[in-house]
Amino acid sequence: MTFSHIPVLPEETIGSLNIVPDGIYVDGTAGGGGHSSLIAARLSDKGRLIAIDQDEEAIRAAGEKLKGFGDRVSIIRDNYSNIDSILDGLAIDKVNGILLDLGVSSHQLDDPERGFSYMNDGPLDMRMDRSASVSAYDVVNGYPEEELSRIIKEYGEERYARQIARAIARERESEDIKSTVRLREIIERAIPGKGKAGRGNPAMRSFQAIRIEVNRELDVLGASLDLMTDRLLSGGRLAVISFHSLEDRIVKETFRKNENPCICPPDFPVCVCGRKSKGRCIGRKAITAGEKELEENPRAHSARLRVFEKA
Ligand SMILES: C[S@@+](CC[C@H](N)C(=O)[O-])C[C@H]1O[C@@H](n2cnc3c(N)ncnc32)[C@H](O)[C@@H]1O
Repeated sequence: MTFSHIPVLPEETIGSLNIVPDGIYVDGTAGGGGHSSLIAARLSDKGRLIAIDQDEEAIRAAGEKLKGFGDRVSIIRDNYSNIDSILDGLAIDKVNGILLDLGVSSHQLDDPERGFSYMNDGPLDMRMDRSASVSAYDVVNGYPEEELSRIIKEYGEERYARQIARAIARERESEDIKSTVRLREIIERAIPGKGKAGRGNPAMRSFQAIRIEVNRELDVLGASLDLMTDRLLSGGRLAVISFHSLEDRIVKETFRKNENPCICPPDFPVCVCGRKSKGRCIGRKAITAGEKELEENPRAHSARLRVFEKA
């Protein structure tokens, strides 16, 4: 299967990283190597890019795409949350920039065997890291109904989460739910007629929610942003592209907290909490795609880029 993922917000992202040709950069979500190749192309022979992905197939695709850059690029299969051990292992202390382009790649979605998509039939899997122990099958067949309902409501922002969780619980009593299409059909039946109108495929939100749970995407993001900020050189930048309102909230709140961590009451004349700013947010609002990109790349619709610069 060929890896056909168009990188979102390419110019905005690369521009926001302020690339220094001799610098060291990390792409924590290398995917098909789209953004990585744009970064690597701006580096000199002294510069370096560490391209990380937890997905074996993405690592293969990124390796292929980036092979022309030789020693400038190191490709590492790991979870980006392990940024400290990854950089320590390469004897790198601080870096000039880090990029995260969150979520799934088109390749992961398009391959039915990966079980991410409600469109094509495949096993219920959805693990980006296929060595992980919990798959979508375990979530769908093993989680209590109330927990499923919470996940679908919170991560999928699904109004009919309770009905969907109940339908899943009822169906799995007779036989385990093993395939993506069977899950889709159960979800479609659980949503009342009026809930199906004009909101894309009714299963889309529940599939997204289960994927976020399987890969613990919000926990991993929340645990990583401070670690990454601490590994930046002064003037270095952390750029994060998110696709989900909960992800964007984590990014926005972490960046704001790191810009102004003071917790003193507003009427205190001077700061006594001692918390020091780590840098500044670049721009108040998230950067979103322009019209041309929206026409060419449907994934760009929900993409939001936020950037933090280390002091
Ligand atoms: C949207 S794609 C990135 C596409 C890439 N920027 C490009 O231009 O080709 C997201 C990638 O991040 C990877 N990923 C998601 N969460 C990760 C994590 N916590 N650690 C490492 N890789 C992760 C996924 O496996 C997927 O390949």
